[in-house]
Amino acid sequence: MPDSGWKDFETLESYIAKEQRMHPHSRGVFSNLLRRIGVASKVVTSKVQKAGLVDVLGMQGTQNVQGETQAKLDVLANDIMKATFRWMPSIAGMASEEDDEMIPVARKTSVDDDDHYIILFDPLDGSSNIDANVSVGTIFSIHRAISDTKGLKSDEPCILGDFLQPGYKQEAAGYVIYGSSTMLVYTTGHGVHGFTLDPEIGEYILSHENIIIPDRCKCFSANEANYNKWDAPSKQFADYVRFGSEERYQKLSSRYIGSFVADFHRNLLYGGVFMYPADEATGKGKLRLLYECAPIAMLAEQAGGLASTGRERILDIQPSDLHERVPIIVGNRREVELYEKMVAEHDAAVEKEVRTRN
Ligand code: AHG
Ligand code: MN
Ligand code: MN
Repeated sequence: MPDSGWKDFETLESYIAKEQRMHPHSRGVFSNLLRRIGVASKVVTSKVQKAGLVDVLGMQGTQNVQGETQAKLDVLANDIMKATFRWMPSIAGMASEEDDEMIPVARKTSVDDDDHYIILFDPLDGSSNIDANVSVGTIFSIHRAISDTKGLKSDEPCILGDFLQPGYKQEAAGYVIYGSSTMLVYTTGHGVHGFTLDPEIGEYILSHENIIIPDRCKCFSANEANYNKWDAPSKQFADYVRFGSEERYQKLSSRYIGSFVADFHRNLLYGGVFMYPADEATGKGKLRLLYECAPIAMLAEQAGGLASTGRERILDIQPSDLHERVPIIVGNRREVELYEKMVAEHDAAVEKEVRTRN
């Protein structure tokens, strides 16, 4: 009999089931959450792919809590995510970049308190690019509802404290990138795995197992038009990698899409560093800690990289507000540490100058 060359493949479904079997006491609650992310992202994919054909391009005419103009697809993707997770027995609450407040979800008595989770998401990242057919994404972050496990239970399904947890406590994080193909990339703290959606069979297929950021700095990604607004160490770092003579940076290219998911995804596969530093005048970053920075930081660290504000590891930040923004540099560990060193030296010099003046 001739060999057809056909090979079996691992689907998201079978991979999740395999991971679950490695945890014999698991009741599958968490696996169901990951499966639902797969389902929600297929719905978003179908909307994104038809965006030019149906009336979902352009602006909604509304603003989100952060004063940003909402695209129609921001609102639609947000509705899809909320509708997907609202009925799940294990979800105690949701928070979205597009909603002002946390969204409590009525408790179901069928689920043990230990099995309650909260999910945070940026339903459509890079949405300003959507009308030009540029890659966009969905980012998600899952935490255990600590108000249960810490005995803080109130009559409410969840409390704000469930959401304001540092990133190192995430149970899972990931993103879906809607690009030339749709890919789901996630971590549960055991490596970073990528699945590509096969549109013909409608399944996510394992295409990138155990992703590790290559140890080369191929891409430098930042909105360089903001250069004059950056603080001294950010300028120093950008100049060093772009114009310096160090061998490591001789093949560096500037690559900036303006969709965090797409910029990070490329750097994760090729090697490189992304930064969105603070605006020196305000001291504030642009990207959101809970919906963007913390989940991407968990993926980066799981892939052997690092994410930092320059002064603090992103995963160590104790959030104080649902929509808090922080400066971020993320990618190869070596470059992030170099940036941290430049920031530390700058801070020490400033401190010394202040001391001498007084
Ligand atoms: P969102 O579309 O979710 O509001 O996020 C946009 C973010 C992020 O995706 C990207 O890295 C950054 O904004 C780009 O900002 P600039 O246009 O200022 O470069
Ligand atoms: Mn975003
Ligand atoms: Mn968004």
